[in-house]
Amino acid sequence: MSRGKILVTGGLGFIGSHTVVELHKAGYDVVIVDNLDNSRPQVAEAIHLTSGQRAAFYPCDIRDRAAFSNVLAEHPDIKGIIHFAAYKAVGESVDKPLKYYDNNINGLVELLKQMNEHGIRNMLFSSSCTVYGQPEKLPISENTPLQPAESPYGNTKKIGEDILRDATFTGSIRGVALRYFNPVGAHEKGLIGELPIGVPQNLVPFVTQTAAGLRDQLRVFGNDYPTEDGTAIRDYIHVVDLAKVHVKAMERMLDGEGPSYDIFNVGTGRGHSVLEVIQAFERVSGKSLPYAFADRRSGDVVEVYADATKAERELQWKAEKTIDDMMRDAWTFQQHILNKTHILNRNNNV
Ligand code: NAD
Ligand code: WQD
Repeated sequence: MSRGKILVTGGLGFIGSHTVVELHKAGYDVVIVDNLDNSRPQVAEAIHLTSGQRAAFYPCDIRDRAAFSNVLAEHPDIKGIIHFAAYKAVGESVDKPLKYYDNNINGLVELLKQMNEHGIRNMLFSSSCTVYGQPEKLPISENTPLQPAESPYGNTKKIGEDILRDATFTGSIRGVALRYFNPVGAHEKGLIGELPIGVPQNLVPFVTQTAAGLRDQLRVFGNDYPTEDGTAIRDYIHVVDLAKVHVKAMERMLDGEGPSYDIFNVGTGRGHSVLEVIQAFERVSGKSLPYAFADRRSGDVVEVYADATKAERELQWKAEKTIDDMMRDAWTFQQHILNKTHILNRNNNV
């Protein structure tokens, strides 16, 4: 028997698709709204092949008030919304700030208004560790002071959290912001994963594309950081672990537990340097990765990793997968894309 119906905005994207699979596994029915700006309709079938269940999928923009309202009217039994739909490219947001404010802020406001109109109370919001910048103290807890945003993208996450918090003050909405650290990897079946458009800006897709022969070599940005091996440190988290925390956080809201607004860090609590990521990749893939050291990338911080104990304590969730799992599953997915271009057929992927 179904445990209820959850709407997932951006449900065909990287984190959304994995979360839909975990919602299915936990017994929920899922409605996906995605405008396909950064995904392909074939991902709906890949989700079905992964979870064994189908989600109802609507190719719709959440800012299209009439179309989105129709979707909600068709599903009056939606209990909560997990809101992934947003743009996420840090560099692009510097060049096109209004594109980012329009989608990430107006999209959120529109969604909250629609929740009020349709009587939907519970919302999970995708925030990011980018709101912390480079803090003075590590690990980063939810009480670590936030820094001014480095990019319009980062600012949309800070503002988005404030908007959600303020909306919960009216009493009609309950909200949780999840601050993801660095999500990587893919479902182990290899059918869903991360599909960057054009040249990947993030480390792990660049690693797997280089190993697959699509890129000549990886540039390691900076080997003179004040870390043990000189390369920068991040808290990489497996996307399946990340997907699972959404189920836990949503269940707590559906049970009426917790405050009306809450924030959780979502990381492993452990940092890995860029060189450690490369070594893990080489270990699990058996391939040697061509790389060279390059200058530091502008805007990069030295070291971040989460204090994720609040999620463990209050949501009974803890990341379980290792850096080797992340690299192995990212590599499986990369090989799948090369072999099955008919499923994830993206002309501009390479
Ligand atoms: P993604 O681009 O893979 O997924 C987002 C999905 O939303 C895409 O399928 C896209 O087509 C859809 N979408 C965008 N705007 C929409 C709109 N107006 N209406 C309907 N659909 C729309 O991104 P992701 O990596 O899965 O990230 C999901 C969320 O998590 C985003 O809010 C992102 O900012 C946040 N986040 C991501 C990371 C990361 O490193 N991937 C880290 C921290 C936070
Ligand atoms: C990781 C490390 C790079 C590429 C970004 C966003 C952040 C959040 C997560 C959304 C860094 C190094 C990278 C390459 C490299 N997203 N690197 N060569 O910058 O920590 O975080 O994604 O909210 O907001 O900024 O992730 O994967 O780009 O970089 O050496 O070709 O890998 O310098 O040290 P980042 P990343």
